[in-house]
Amino acid sequence: MADLDDLREGNNFGLGIATDTQTFHVKGAGNLPWGMKDRLSRIFNPETGRTVMLAFDHGFIMGPTSGLERIDLSILPLIEHTDCLMCTRGILQSVVPPNTNKPVCLRSDAGTTILTELNNNVVIDIQEAIRMNVSAMAIMLSIGDPAFEARTVANLFHAADQASRYNIPVMGVTAVGKDMARDARYFGLASRVCAENGANIVKTYYCEGFEKVVAACPVPIVIAGGKKLPEKEALELCFHAISDGASGVDMGRNIFQSSHPAAMIQAIHGVVHNGLTSDQGYELFNDLSSK
Ligand code: 5RP
Repeated sequence: MADLDDLREGNNFGLGIATDTQTFHVKGAGNLPWGMKDRLSRIFNPETGRTVMLAFDHGFIMGPTSGLERIDLSILPLIEHTDCLMCTRGILQSVVPPNTNKPVCLRSDAGTTILTELNNNVVIDIQEAIRMNVSAMAIMLSIGDPAFEARTVANLFHAADQASRYNIPVMGVTAVGKDMARDARYFGLASRVCAENGANIVKTYYCEGFEKVVAACPVPIVIAGGKKLPEKEALELCFHAISDGASGVDMGRNIFQSSHPAAMIQAIHGVVHNGLTSDQGYELFNDLSSK
C-alpha cells in the first residue's frame, strides 16, 4: 500500500487553459486508435510529419545484390541516420541488433524471385509480425497485372484485416510491371487502391504530375528510389517528391549503392526533414563524403 503520510491536495488544475484537442501529424490517421498512432509516430517524425525509411529487403527476391552482400557491414552503420528499417524477418532476426531502437516496417509477403514470375506472394502470419514487435507491415501490390492483381490486392486486404486487430499499420507497395506506364494516372490509381483497401501508408514511385497522386491518396505516400542514379539526381528526385507532397522516402539502392552511403542518407535526411534543396543536399553529400 502507498505511504499515506503527507498526502497533498492537488492545486494546479490549469483553470482557464483550454485542453489541447490534439491534432495528429500523419495524414489520414486522425481517427485511428492509440496503438496505431503510436506506431505511426515511431515511423513519421512528429516534428516534421515525415520519414526517411531505409529499404534493404531486396535480397528476398534478388539475393545478395550489390550493396547488400554483407548487411552487417553495409547497412548497420546507416541505422543511426534512418527513421525506420524496412527489411525481411530473416535479416531482422539474423543481422539487425534488437537494441537499435528503430521501428521496423517488415516486408510481410514473399513468393517468387527474379528468376521466375514475380508477385505470386503469400502473407506472413500476423503472430510472427507481433512477435517481432513491428511498427508496420509492407505488402506488395501488382495493380494492372492480369495474373497477379487480384492475388496481391487480396494479400493487402487480408493483411489489413489481421494487422488492424493489433493496431499495426500496413504499407501498400506498388510494384510496376514492365508493361505499365509510369505516369500519374497509373500511380494515382495504384496508390488510391492501396489506401481504399486498408493501407495506412503507400509506397510508390515519383512521376510527372506527382502532386495529383499525393492529393488523391488519403494516407501518406513515401517514394521508392528505384534503380541507382547519380547522387545529385537522386537528391533531385527526393526534393521534387517532397515538394509535391510526399511524406518521405523508403529508399534502398540510391543509398546503399552510393559511393558514400552514410553521406547520402544524411543528405536525404536534410532534404526530407530540414528543408534543404537538392543543391544544398548535394553540397552536404559532398562535404560529408570528403571527410
Ligand atoms: C520492392 C521494394 C523495395 O524495398 C524497394 O522498391 C526498394 O527501394 P529502392 O527502389 O529505392 O531500391 O519495396 O517491392
